[in-house]
Amino acid sequence: MRLSIPIQSHYYERKRIMRLFEAKNLTKKYDKTVLDHLDFSINEGEVVGVIGVSGCGKSTLARLVSGIEKPSSGSLLYQGKPVDFKKGRKDIQLILQNSIESFSPRMKIRVFLYEPYHYFYHLHKNEALDCIKKILKQVGMDESCLEKYPHELSGGQLQRIAIARALIIHPRLLICDEITSSLDHVVQREIIELLKKFVEKNHISILFISHDLSLVHEFCHQVLVLNNGKIIEKGTIQQLYKSENEVVQNLLKAAYLNS
Ligand SMILES: Nc1ncnc2c1ncn2[C@@H]1O[C@H](COP(=O)(O)OP(=O)(O)OP(=O)(O)O)[C@@H](O)[C@H]1O
Ligand SMILES: [Mg+2]
Repeated sequence: MRLSIPIQSHYYERKRIMRLFEAKNLTKKYDKTVLDHLDFSINEGEVVGVIGVSGCGKSTLARLVSGIEKPSSGSLLYQGKPVDFKKGRKDIQLILQNSIESFSPRMKIRVFLYEPYHYFYHLHKNEALDCIKKILKQVGMDESCLEKYPHELSGGQLQRIAIARALIIHPRLLICDEITSSLDHVVQREIIELLKKFVEKNHISILFISHDLSLVHEFCHQVLVLNNGKIIEKGTIQQLYKSENEVVQNLLKAAYLNS
């Protein structure tokens, strides 16, 4: 498969690039060390890809950056200060691969989307409904889904609803952990196009974890390659293609063979 040309080549030509998020010496140990002194940063409006073989620590990284788990050592900075996950909960949102797991089976989509308006903005149901309709349109969903239960929607539709809910909260950083993995190619592309629009329009940043290099190539400004809990390569996808690191070369080769 031929990879398309990334759309974001002008990103680094922008005059002022503001650092949004930073990980310093980030380490996570369970019974063994899973993440080992990671250093990286994410700028405002930047999409940072994370790739690496299964078990290399990508989801663990997502859990640390989103505050679901605490690091064993090291620091996480948001706008230059240690992240206060209680206060910053709104700013950093996580979307997972299987959105169905984040839905309550007996909760209609309407209630699922209303929750963040109630919790973060104390909006009344009727006030929120207008906003909900607007965001549904933005993610390409019909209003009729509001009266449905999660099991009545497809994987791609649920993923759009999960994105809508994350965006309702107006995050500055969205962490996407393999969010397109269970979807077919057409729907994958649609979801990426949707996220691209939000990055361009609202200038949000994304930590995009994926094993699909063609999506990473198309979508990410910068890519981190994780291996055995360490960042072994960091740069634009074009720089990765020039990497002499054997693990990186094998990842790139595997991506071509699978495509
Ligand atoms: N709560 C936990 N307790 C102990 N070990 C864990 C825990 N969570 C993850 N691990 C271990 O950490 C390592 C990294 O797991 P992680 O889920 O982060 O990998 P991954 O890169 O996301 O893999 P995949 O591509 O398959 O999703 C694995 O060896 C896993 O067994
Ligand atoms: Mg994972």
